[in-house]
Amino acid sequence: MKNWKKALALVLALSLCVCLLAACGGTTSTNTTTNDADKAADTEAGGELIMATNAAFPPFEFTTSNGLVGEYDGIDVAIAQKIAEKAGKTLKVSDMEFDGIIAAVSTGKVDMGIAGMTITEERKNNVDFSDPYYVAEQVIVVPEDSDIASAEDLKNDKKVGVVIGYTADTIVTEDLALDEANIVRANRGIDVVQDVKNGRLDAVVIDSYTGIKLAESTGLKVVEDEEAFAAEEYAIAVKKGNSELLETINATLAEMKENGEIEELAAKYNDTAVEEEGAEADVEASAESETQAEDEASEGEVSEGEAPAAE
Ligand code: ARG
Repeated sequence: MKNWKKALALVLALSLCVCLLAACGGTTSTNTTTNDADKAADTEAGGELIMATNAAFPPFEFTTSNGLVGEYDGIDVAIAQKIAEKAGKTLKVSDMEFDGIIAAVSTGKVDMGIAGMTITEERKNNVDFSDPYYVAEQVIVVPEDSDIASAEDLKNDKKVGVVIGYTADTIVTEDLALDEANIVRANRGIDVVQDVKNGRLDAVVIDSYTGIKLAESTGLKVVEDEEAFAAEEYAIAVKKGNSELLETINATLAEMKENGEIEELAAKYNDTAVEEEGAEADVEASAESETQAEDEASEGEVSEGEAPAAE
């Protein structure tokens, strides 16, 4: 119960960030006019708009029996649908490992990456980012009775799980500089969170909204540390130089911030539990997939030739 209240408080606090961001977007967004975007949409109308994502990141993207696009649902899928609408195209979801998204976008295999993706300097070398549409931070997912109360406590010889290529991977590896032997890397958040649940790991560092969702579904606790973890801005990635699509994306985001749609989506997907089936499917799949205790460097997000995940 206490945990639930804390989670709610966090959601509310973070929703405030979204409101602030939305307000910001409304007043400072300058360079996109609806007319230009409409022109772009006219000339490009028809065909598919392919979004690369990694649909293991509720509430932004997850699979469910009855999603917005086939089995795919979430805040990002809803935003992508609006972008496709504006571009006069049909949205197609290409679900792949998170670590492969930047390469898929930069090689033009897909049109855009929408995956709760944090803007980082390193990623900016390979793709162009839209205006930010969401603000998050990292949290620590631990068992209810854990003695971990801060990021600093993780340095206390704790076994810490992260997802390969997520910003949390860089944070525990470089910023917190945890002992490499104590870092366990997996392909999906639910995989490492399950390992906290079954006692193989002491903690997981992951994005706040997803951390809350995964902690809720597994009966774990979320620890915040605002001093240790900076705010992260989520944005949409396009191939470098694809200014036509970027313009359509930014115009769509500006509209959705201004008319409150982003906030509505945040409320809708944060406040309602991820549909049972989706959550169960994730847990089942994670039982089959092995957590990888990786020792090689998994530094670069840009790995070549990532095949889209089967599901
Ligand atoms: N925000 C984090 C990052 O950019 C994690 C994003 C994970 N997204 C996903 N769809 N799995 O690294």
